[in-house]
Amino acid sequence: MSRIKDAGLSKEGKEELEWARENMPMLALIAESFEKEKPFKGLSIGVCLHLEKKTGILLETLMKGGARVAAASCNPLTTDDRVAAALAGKGVDVYAWAGENEKEYYENINRVLDHEPQLLIDDGCDQIFTVHTKRKELIGRIRGACEETTTGVNRLRAMEKEGKLKLPVIAVNDAYSKFLFDNRFGTAQSTVEAIMRATNKLIAGKTVVVVGFGSCGRGISERMRGLGANVTVVEVLGRLTSESGPAGQHKALEALYSGFRVMSMEEAAREGDIFITSTGNINVIAKKHFEKMKSGAILANAGHFNNEIDTNGLEQLSKRREKVKENVERFTLRDGRKLYLLSEGRLVNLARPSGQGHPIEIMDGSFAIQALSLEFISRSGKLPNKVIPVPREIDDKIAELALAVKGIKLSNPTKEQQNYARSWEEGT
Ligand SMILES: NC(=O)c1ccc[n+]([C@@H]2O[C@H](COP(=O)([O-])OP(=O)(O)OC[C@H]3O[C@@H](n4cnc5c(N)ncnc54)[C@H](O)[C@@H]3O)[C@@H](O)[C@H]2O)c1
Repeated sequence: MSRIKDAGLSKEGKEELEWARENMPMLALIAESFEKEKPFKGLSIGVCLHLEKKTGILLETLMKGGARVAAASCNPLTTDDRVAAALAGKGVDVYAWAGENEKEYYENINRVLDHEPQLLIDDGCDQIFTVHTKRKELIGRIRGACEETTTGVNRLRAMEKEGKLKLPVIAVNDAYSKFLFDNRFGTAQSTVEAIMRATNKLIAGKTVVVVGFGSCGRGISERMRGLGANVTVVEVLGRLTSESGPAGQHKALEALYSGFRVMSMEEAAREGDIFITSTGNINVIAKKHFEKMKSGAILANAGHFNNEIDTNGLEQLSKRREKVKENVERFTLRDGRKLYLLSEGRLVNLARPSGQGHPIEIMDGSFAIQALSLEFISRSGKLPNKVIPVPREIDDKIAELALAVKGIKLSNPTKEQQNYARSWEEGT
């Protein structure tokens, strides 16, 4: 029995789903093959994702593959209540509404887990974390999980390192066909769009400070520049979450050579008109930074959790915190300056109503990886209790399919070229 805001919103939700379905050709192809082969026959899938229209099409696709699906949201603000109502009417067990408090949020995840799923999809790792801490009795029956985002994969790697990970989990986020496009282009467009919808302010001529120049920050910086903003990038020294890959100083140089100004948060705090965090890290904008900011500055977060901007610290510096309008709060500091926080510091691009999430075509690709990775788990024997990369065939196939549905067909390299590329002989 679903728990949603209002079943009466179902008609609007169906319209939203129809529009998403029309624009998700990759999932349509996968649904066709799932319908024939039923890879999830008899299996129950526990889902913890932003519950909006694109997610709805993923859930339909999994059901066509024979799955029973129970779903909660991975964020208290991001459920589209219309879509939740439509999905509940289509046989998904939905436990989600926009504006859940923290207690309700975890109660809803637990309600999903009450269905005793064999497969999980998570975005941010809260469902998998709940299984490992509060619902350990389920561990033996769960065959595997897929994780959607950078922060979730970072948490899983930390669990694995400490020997605490008791499930195989596919790091969907780390597939090339996910983070190169979803994190970069999807987050960029939807973040810019959400800030404009929440504030209706001009971007051109503003100084936009982007904190974190990873896949998300790079995309946001590029799009903001495209709209005429002067973009400043903030990075930090070192590798925070992995021993390989570029360090913060490499990312800072990449930003500099891409034509952005680069500096520390201490310096950037004085300059920004709009601040956007996308680091996956905690308190990257803190009290000492608010103290230096111009009156009127806007603060938004595009990272997974609402702890990138120190909202408590901001409240402590303020004599008043008040809602100005949907998605916008005003903090009046003791010295009279005003700072504006969007969407309570939660994922600005997904927090409703100004956040609509990534563009549909982007999620068609990301959720195609989810669907095929979950199929891979369902068809595999026992996988190791590790963070597992998306099989390369799936990653390559998704990118090829994404081109094919746009009518782009690449040719294969010739035999000669293949041999040449792999040989060590001189090229003259
Ligand atoms: N909004 C969305 O729709 C969306 C989409 C994908 C990912 N995400 C989330 O966005 C966050 C970033 O993801 P990503 O894939 O870009 O990660 P990433 O690891 O590629 O990049 C993060 C960058 O932040 C930098 N950083 C860390 N701490 C910092 C600090 N204190 N100051 C300045 N820079 C700092 C790191 O050096 C790194 O370069 C994660 O939480 C991820 O889960 C959000």
